[in-house]
Amino acid sequence: MKVGIIGSGDVGQKLGDGFIELGHQVMIGSRDPGKLSAWAGKHHGSKSGRASTGTFEQAAKFGDVIVIATLWAGTKSAIEMAGPQNFAGKTVIDVTNPLDFSTMPPKLAIGCTDSAGETVQRMLPDAKVVKAFNTVGNPHMFRPDFPGGRPTMFICGNDEQAKKMVTDVLTAFGWESVDIGGIEGSRLLEPLAMLWITYYFRTNTGNHAFKLLRK
Ligand SMILES: NC(=O)c1ccc[n+]([C@@H]2O[C@H](COP(=O)([O-])OP(=O)(O)OC[C@H]3O[C@@H](n4cnc5c(N)ncnc54)[C@H](OP(=O)(O)O)[C@@H]3O)[C@@H](O)[C@H]2O)c1
Repeated sequence: MKVGIIGSGDVGQKLGDGFIELGHQVMIGSRDPGKLSAWAGKHHGSKSGRASTGTFEQAAKFGDVIVIATLWAGTKSAIEMAGPQNFAGKTVIDVTNPLDFSTMPPKLAIGCTDSAGETVQRMLPDAKVVKAFNTVGNPHMFRPDFPGGRPTMFICGNDEQAKKMVTDVLTAFGWESVDIGGIEGSRLLEPLAMLWITYYFRTNTGNHAFKLLRK
């Protein structure tokens, strides 16, 4: 699979590492691809050829699947630079959280009657947007290792096939996934990320993840 990642931060790099480890080809996009030389260098050797870097537009064109992992405040601009037409028909994994960093801890920049997931879907009406990976810190995104077993990643999106594909990705990455419905479920998943972040600030540790218990 060819994965285009719009976002050069910790999340883009960590998910890129995971996809490469699983045998996929990855291009990470940035306004300044040169900043990714250390990331690309890390993947030289046996995995060389699977890792590449480019502009947002090149990464969007490259991916059969596209990950959006940008600072919320820059997401609209990043999508415009990537070219909305380059997302058409593709599964798009939206990892963004709409955070307002004017306070610390940050707060949600969007209220409970809209969400980043829905905003991204509106910006990309011809893409199949699936919200995923937004409720855990990047160090645990790939092969999370917790004593309680596989943690749960809640996902949502309007396209069943796209969600099935993202579920397969999550399974390969080491997660259990729970589908909570259409993309409007982002109104729940983004506040859930705020819960993760609040616990992070209260405990000064990022070693936590959610798990749905059932009997
Ligand atoms: N950090 C985590 O552990 C974590 C966990 C879950 C979800 N998230 C969410 O995932 C997303 C990515 O987080 P992150 O920590 O990896 O990195 P980040 O610092 O939030 O975002 C970095 C990316 O945003 C782009 N960007 C910033 N301002 C921009 C602008 N004005 N126009 C266009 N692009 C802009 C940067 O572009 P350049 O490459 O050009 O610099 C870079 O690619 C965020 O929405 C975050 O809330 C983060």
